[in-house]
Amino acid sequence: MNRLSKIQDLLLKYIYEQTESGIERSYPLSWEIVHIASAPQFAQLLAEKRGSDPELAAIATAVHDFGRVVTGIQENHAEAGYIPLKEWLHQTGIFNEKEIEIIARASKNHSSKEEVGTAVEEIVKDSDIVDCYLHGHPITKENHRRRLAKVKKELHLP
Ligand SMILES: [Fe+2]
Repeated sequence: MNRLSKIQDLLLKYIYEQTESGIERSYPLSWEIVHIASAPQFAQLLAEKRGSDPELAAIATAVHDFGRVVTGIQENHAEAGYIPLKEWLHQTGIFNEKEIEIIARASKNHSSKEEVGTAVEEIVKDSDIVDCYLHGHPITKENHRRRLAKVKKELHLP
């Protein structure tokens, strides 16, 4: 099993364990599952196009909402997920320290859509918005709309 599939498998098992917790959630777990499955696919393509590491970009995108999965809360979920995500990634035993920091930092910074970050961070942010767009979510924030327009232009889409 490749590392993206492995991490999706582990994350879906983790989510399955959460289904019994009964905590209140800003988003249903069904959305988390869909987002974990589809957003990394676009991330991989975007990374290939930009000459970035497709595997790392796709994995960072798969786990970017870990904070919301853990706490159920949307507010500050990116920052809240940083430490738990690092610990969880360590436990998987399939990443080195450098990779863990890149992935966890991309998750931590993904809500700052108005800022430009590292190559992996930018792919996570762009893929997050594109995935929401592809699932029919309204893209209402101005900086999100700008990002979506930028990616569409990059892909020569109208
Ligand atoms: Fe998020």
